[in-house]
Amino acid sequence: MNTTEHADSDRELSSQAGHSGSAAESDALYDFMVVSNRLPVDRCSPDEAGCEDGWRRSPGGLVTALAPMMTKTDGAWVGWHGAPDETLEPFSHGGIDLIPVQLSTDDIELFYEGFSNATLWPLYHDVIAPPEFHRTWWDSYRKVNRRFADATIRSAAEGATVWVQDYQLQLVPKMLREARPDLKIGFFNHIPFPPPEIFAQLPWRRAIIDGLLGADLVGFQRPSDAGNFMRSARRFLGASVKQQQIHVKDTDGKTTHIARAQAFPISIDVKQISELARNPEIIERSRQIRRDLGNPKTILLGVDRLDYTKGIRHRLKAYEELLADGKVTVENAALIQVASPSRERVEHYRLLREEVEGTVGHINGTYDTMQNTAVRYLHHSYPIEEMVALYLAADVMLVTALRDGMNLVAKEYVTARTNNDGALVLSEFAGAADQLKQALLMNPHDIDGLKDTIMRAVNLEPSEAARRMRAMRKQILDHDVDLWSSDFLSALEEKVIRDDS
Ligand code: F6P
Repeated sequence: MNTTEHADSDRELSSQAGHSGSAAESDALYDFMVVSNRLPVDRCSPDEAGCEDGWRRSPGGLVTALAPMMTKTDGAWVGWHGAPDETLEPFSHGGIDLIPVQLSTDDIELFYEGFSNATLWPLYHDVIAPPEFHRTWWDSYRKVNRRFADATIRSAAEGATVWVQDYQLQLVPKMLREARPDLKIGFFNHIPFPPPEIFAQLPWRRAIIDGLLGADLVGFQRPSDAGNFMRSARRFLGASVKQQQIHVKDTDGKTTHIARAQAFPISIDVKQISELARNPEIIERSRQIRRDLGNPKTILLGVDRLDYTKGIRHRLKAYEELLADGKVTVENAALIQVASPSRERVEHYRLLREEVEGTVGHINGTYDTMQNTAVRYLHHSYPIEEMVALYLAADVMLVTALRDGMNLVAKEYVTARTNNDGALVLSEFAGAADQLKQALLMNPHDIDGLKDTIMRAVNLEPSEAARRMRAMRKQILDHDVDLWSSDFLSALEEKVIRDDS
């Protein structure tokens, strides 16, 4: 084994952290634990809706899907509470026990902004931006993963189920297994897993695969992600892989553990979005949005974190050319681009913001009139109520990601279109394309193809729009996020078929 990937140093970190590997010494013990980089709560001020004791539940389906399980079983959530250098005692919010993990300013720079978001993020998203490899970032990633593992180990009851989430915590499954072989360990990767030809660049590729293989079940968004992972396990660790089962062997070649890899495409809280989409106040708000834009014939909408994987530049380029070609005009169409602030201290994100805002300024400077604006650009995050009003206001939804694990915005838009109208332009490089086959699928790198697809969406016959939307809505209504979590957790309970031959 390569020295940079040696597992012994993890044991060293463990003893420095004072962890005993025993569940018995901690106060409360839990049968079900979720471990993710962020806790499912955000700080809020008392006058804000839903704010209780200074905290509010974070938006998103994951917490909604897992909250019932948390309260039904004896559950707890381990994660960072969002403020640097602050140590918080465990607390409860909305019936969920929360175990905060502290991150220092250095951890945020090296583990979160560095290794997680400037090494792994670009590497796992097809190297759209060049990943950076720094040993100090890797050291911090190991150290912080150990801290999350230790917090979990201390509070997990004998035989507990632990579900670790996402790329920030890929070493945690093995750390848990070494200390607590009694645990049932699941891992879910919310972002893509790259092909071995790209993953090969990572100096610590073996340690990452080894870390993930500590899990009993490793879940991915797409079958291709699971396939990439299994090919990497075979190539870089020499693991034998049979029918989605990865045999982890000791130095004598004896199988010590079998991990399974499988796709579980994540979904959204369908009930919440459907109810909001039928709420008269939100319907009225959507009409207001249309009026505010001067009631153009077509409203196009993009909703993304301001991230270079989302293809916002490609979308703007295509739209600018459509304006230049006269295919759309500021009188008959408006593009709303919501770009929520994200990872603003990471260099590539700073550059992206400058580029996107420069392009929007250029487009608007060229095409705006006194009455009309070509691109309504909003660098804000909005509550889900406003998002649903935007989905209802938009005739065409543009999801042009260059690579995306899933893309839940696409699923939210479809769910909100309770009248079966509207058109979804969807990148084939988003995981959602596997489920939303009736979207207008396209390759965002092909600007002419993207322009044609946008125009097809703008001019889609109502009957064809309804046929497509109905089929997509059925798919999502039948596969909400509750089903995703219960499918994963039932698969985690299944016994592996042991075949050492
Ligand atoms: O899976 C990708 C993800 O980590 C999501 O869970 C999250 O919504 C998004 O990226 C942004 O994450 P953060 O702000 O923690 O970097």
